[in-house]
Amino acid sequence: MKTPWVLVTGGSRGIGKGLVKAFCQQGYEVVFTYLNSSEPACKLQEELEVAGHSARGYRCNGTDEQQVNAFAAKLIAEKGAPATIINNAGITRDGLLMSMPSSDWLDVINANLNGSFFMVRAFVNCMIEAGEGVIINMSSVSGSHASAGQCNYSATKAGLEGMTRSLAAELSRFGIRVNAIAPGYINTEMLDSIPDTEKKSIRRKIPLRRLGEIDDVAELALFLASSKASYITGQSFTVDGGLTI
Ligand SMILES: NC(=O)c1ccc[n+]([C@@H]2O[C@H](COP(=O)([O-])OP(=O)(O)OC[C@H]3O[C@@H](n4cnc5c(N)ncnc54)[C@H](OP(=O)(O)O)[C@@H]3O)[C@@H](O)[C@H]2O)c1
Repeated sequence: MKTPWVLVTGGSRGIGKGLVKAFCQQGYEVVFTYLNSSEPACKLQEELEVAGHSARGYRCNGTDEQQVNAFAAKLIAEKGAPATIINNAGITRDGLLMSMPSSDWLDVINANLNGSFFMVRAFVNCMIEAGEGVIINMSSVSGSHASAGQCNYSATKAGLEGMTRSLAAELSRFGIRVNAIAPGYINTEMLDSIPDTEKKSIRRKIPLRRLGEIDDVAELALFLASSKASYITGQSFTVDGGLTI
């Protein structure tokens, strides 16, 4: 009997790192991926191991289909099917469409949308065989609300929410639930490029008057991954302090 484990893509920093910690603290065995942040990934793994948790980081470029397939084959051989996959890895390359280079469009589509497709497809047969599983796709409020300068990012997040519904329809009969989380402004490095004055005006627009914290997202992910959410599938849940109401 193999131990249930959770896969978090993009777990070296930001929300993903928070997810890795939160799932470890709840007693799950966690595997996470990263692209460039080898040092932060090693540090996170060490920190969690010292605290008595089980977490392992792997460099795996989600945009590289072959790398993803090889990564999945290795883990399936070692650990069997993941109990939960969280497609969290994502990037932004903001800019107005009129001056957006094709590379900024393609990089974001590849990282946010194709990467999630490759990862789910690599593991899905094994999850079907297991007869259970949870998939959580990290969307954004930009997936359902206009965001000038983010046509590439918004397209990927709207795409992820569509993928979430279609996969829920495909996979429910195999005991696999698929949901999405759509955060608003969460206090991570992704927001570092926003000047402080702009952050101030963002806070004023949020009914709860603060940026979200990583734990605000992690708590929802823990719930969706748990049996408490066993009748919930195909949904997108907004965590934005009321920004989009
Ligand atoms: N922060 C927010 O306010 C916010 C709001 C709405 C939605 N989100 C969504 O939440 C998710 C996490 O956001 P974040 O703010 O935590 O981002 P972040 O701090 O920039 O971290 C992104 C993570 O994704 C990994 N990654 C990027 N491209 C990858 C690739 N090709 N292959 C594997 N890993 C890759 C990064 O790895 P490296 O460290 O190695 O680069 C990193 O671990 C994203 O999907 C984002 O769109 C965030």
